[in-house]
This record gives sequence, structure tokens and C-alpha cells, in this order.
Amino acid sequence: MSSKNLDFGTFAQDVMLGLSASPKSLPSKYFYNAKGDKLFQKIMAMPEYYLTKKEFEIFETQYELILDPILNLDQPFNLVELGAGDGLKTKILLKYLKSRNADFEYFPIDFSGSVLQELEESLKDEFPDLSVTCLEDTYRGSLVKRLWDNGKPNLILFLGSNLGNFSQEEAFDILDHLRIGAAHGDFVLIGIDLKKDPQTILDAYHDPEGITRDFNLNLLDRINQELDGDIDLNTFKHWPCYDPISGECRSYLVSLKKQKINLKALDQSFDFEAFESVFTEISKKYSLKEIEQFAEKGGFESVQNFTDSENYFADVLWRRK
Ligand code: AVI
Repeated sequence: MSSKNLDFGTFAQDVMLGLSASPKSLPSKYFYNAKGDKLFQKIMAMPEYYLTKKEFEIFETQYELILDPILNLDQPFNLVELGAGDGLKTKILLKYLKSRNADFEYFPIDFSGSVLQELEESLKDEFPDLSVTCLEDTYRGSLVKRLWDNGKPNLILFLGSNLGNFSQEEAFDILDHLRIGAAHGDFVLIGIDLKKDPQTILDAYHDPEGITRDFNLNLLDRINQELDGDIDLNTFKHWPCYDPISGECRSYLVSLKKQKINLKALDQSFDFEAFESVFTEISKKYSLKEIEQFAEKGGFESVQNFTDSENYFADVLWRRK
């Protein structure tokens, strides 16, 4: 059984499943502990990691157009954000909504408690009057529970190419959850990384400073910390590769030698052949055409696509049918 990015299991269970599988894999959602969150902040600031900068440009230049449809409803609403992270882009929207005296509540959702805590503190500082409810949960978990549901219309944000961290099949499943989690007429804004020059994409996941390498290796470090493992991180190599047809940038950790790793907390050990790999992350890129098909298949109608000046990234606004 392979350990995909599904929401089941604890860290220990998912590690057991993933390292027993062939080929081996580990779910990328476990990148995001306190150390991984810091490394991801560094990734977002790297010159090669264009995704954050491009989406930021879209928000800075087109926030009015993005928010027009929900504001035009002329009624109180919820701003729900799946995978809120540091909320940097969303704060552009919050500022504008504040200037318009909009009546709304903000529900940031994240799998990482440490990230949510930081976000909550910064929001208290910058938007003291804003009504904020932080929810620590997975995408699917939160869409099933719909804790924000108070009968008001919703604008659900799913930014930062987070959908890209799922295979096509899983992405459909997430969209299915989105469709069920959204009421008729609700809006969804999804940040998508677009297909482009393969070198530009590969460079974003293979920086010369090795920040992305450390981010990937943090999965093994976390296993050492939380499951009392004895993995020598120097015996694993960060290996990203991009397939321009599928649009999948896949990251692996390649064992540079034949070895056994022991996880004392689980009383388990796992054997690695020389150059056996652990699949750790998919970062999928799409064309706008593929995204339109997603909307149609997922039960949404496309309202508008917002792109940056180089067409590297898109935030697509959909309405639930
Ligand atoms: C969070 N996610 C969209 C990032 C991405 O681009 O797939 C995570 C990441 N992995 C390596 N660099 C950044």
C-alpha cells in the first residue's frame, strides 16, 4: 500500500506505510513542522522560487477585481483560507476589505499549528478589529467539517499552488471536497503554477544554496527527532526532476548507499538498496486549458483568470454551480 498525500494516519503510521512500500514514499504534508515552516519561508524568499513573487504581483495589482464578485453580493460573508501559511498575500485582500468597511469573518486553516499561531499574532497586531477564527486541520478535514458555515456566502482561498502538491487524481478528490464544502454560489480562488520553461521550474526546486535540499531532508530529520531514528542525512541526496508533459516536478531523497535505518520509537528498521529512492513531493504545473477542464469537471463555473505579467502563475476565480 502506498502512502499518498491522503489525510489518514498519524506521522508514525504514515512513515511506517511509506517506508514499507515499494517504491518508498513519504507524504509531503510532514515537511511543515516548526523547522520546515522556517525553511519554507526561506524558500519563498529565494530568487529562484518565482511562485510566491508572481502570486504576490497578481494580488497587488488585481485585488479589486479579485474581490469585486464577493463584494457585489452586498452582504456579510466569510473569507476562508485553506493552507493560510504566513497570510502575506491575503493581507493585501484584508487591507482592501477593511478600507471598504466590508462585513466579513476570516477563517485561516493550516495543518501547522506553529504557522497558525504566528499568523494569529500578526493579525492581532495589524488588524485588531478583524474577526478571526484559526482552524488547525487538513484541507479535506476542514472541508468535511465546514466549521465556518454560518449561512453566509463564502470566498474560499486555496492559494500558493498548494493544489499542485497533489497528483491529478488526488487533486480531483480535493476539488470534489471543495465542491461539497462550498454552497451554491460560493466563490473559490485557486492559485496555480503554470507550465513554462522547464529550466525555470527546475531551478525553483534546486537552488544553489541548498535550502530546498534541507527542506526535503527535514522529513528524515523529523523522523530522527520524533521516532528516535538514526538516519544519517548526509547519506541521502535531494533529487528534483520535472516532466514537461505531465507538468509534474517530483522530488526524491536518494539513498547514496546500501543501508539499514532504525526507528527505535517504533521498534522497526527499514532497508535501503544503494540508490533506492523515497518519493517525497509532487509540485504539479498546469496549463490554463487544463484548469478550465478542472472547473467544469469539478462542478464550478469559471468567473475570471488573473495572471501575472509573465504568465508564470494564475489565480483562477470560480463560482460553485
Ligand atoms: C507549498 N508548495 C506549493 C510548495 C511547492 O512549490 O510545491 C512547496 C515546496 N517544495 C519545494 N519548494 C517549495
